[in-house]
Amino acid sequence: MTDVLYEADIDMSPLRGRTLAIIGYGNHGRSHALNLRDTGVKDILVALREGSANKARAEADGFEVGSLGEAARRADAVSLLAADEAHGESWREHIAPNRKPGQALILCHGFSIEYGLIDPAPDADVVLAAAKGPGGAVRTAFERGGGLLGFWAVHRDASGGAQALAKAYLAGLGCGRAGIRETSFREEALADILGEQAVLVGGVCALAREGFETLIQAGISPEMAYIDTVHEIKYIADLIHDRGMLGMYEAISDTAEFGAHEVEGAIRDAVRPVFRAIVEDVTAGAFAQRWVADYEAGRKTLMARRKAAGAHPAEAAGAAIRAGAARRS
Ligand SMILES: NC(=O)c1ccc[n+]([C@@H]2O[C@H](COP(=O)([O-])OP(=O)(O)OC[C@H]3O[C@@H](n4cnc5c(N)ncnc54)[C@H](OP(=O)(O)O)[C@@H]3O)[C@@H](O)[C@H]2O)c1
Repeated sequence: MTDVLYEADIDMSPLRGRTLAIIGYGNHGRSHALNLRDTGVKDILVALREGSANKARAEADGFEVGSLGEAARRADAVSLLAADEAHGESWREHIAPNRKPGQALILCHGFSIEYGLIDPAPDADVVLAAAKGPGGAVRTAFERGGGLLGFWAVHRDASGGAQALAKAYLAGLGCGRAGIRETSFREEALADILGEQAVLVGGVCALAREGFETLIQAGISPEMAYIDTVHEIKYIADLIHDRGMLGMYEAISDTAEFGAHEVEGAIRDAVRPVFRAIVEDVTAGAFAQRWVADYEAGRKTLMARRKAAGAHPAEAAGAAIRAGAARRS
């Protein structure tokens, strides 16, 4: 781990007296705009695509809202918080053709630089300022007086001030309250994508569905199978979040821990080649290419897969459990 910086270590002047455009007003965009304003960044323009459902929300929050082209013409720094898969399109069609010379580009994920979706001009500072977590948590942690862990990296330092800009931006999000560390675009992109594919989303859902089906085949009722393979993920996840994996073992039964140690090796052996293949696929940019192609073709593959996942019997069992719990409360 690199040195950790906190609020008091960070000079906020790179954000003062400059126009900042926040492109996108989704989970991260809204939280970034609100936190930066609350930490003293005065001149913020929110930029949205035509017809955005988030326009009214940004205006209700008191922000001036413009187009992506307007943001590109006016801003000294642009924070691109549109969906990653749309970065190439936003860059090619709106930002690059209108861009104010010397305008800095701030990204919250290594994805679009690391996998070549955008190729900023040589006069641009290009930095990563990633608040690690879902966008909503950037705001809720800030409102409670805290912040998410922040990671910065520099892809290009055209002005000599790129590093200072990234750190100031993270401090403006509240990350200086939790700690700000250096990373690289490659590290952030690969770690984020591997984490979500292999473990947090793909891995958890695959294990949960396989466990559910195994119990159904063993004659267990769908409700009981759902509770023991899906519903209780939350309790274990909360323990791991609050106390680490060792702390989780200490908080559960010895029976559960003994059994878990017995099977962990076999599960790891089974998934290791899959995980290695994910690293190669992501590192080569092949995953990014497939995802952007699907996005540009109307997300047909994503929607078909989501529909298939919705038809899995675990969904009906989960809905029944949640409906029962809602009736009691
Ligand atoms: N580093 C991390 O740990 C981390 C974690 C989560 C997210 N992130 C990053 O944060 C960024 C934003 O994520 P998010 O969670 O805020 O996403 P989100 O909630 O889905 O919001 C996406 C925003 O992008 C806009 N958008 C989508 N397609 C667009 C297009 N073609 N042109 C212009 N705008 C478009 C949406 O517009 P509408 O308002 O019209 O819907 C919306 O405002 C991404 O780069 C993501 O990778 C990083």
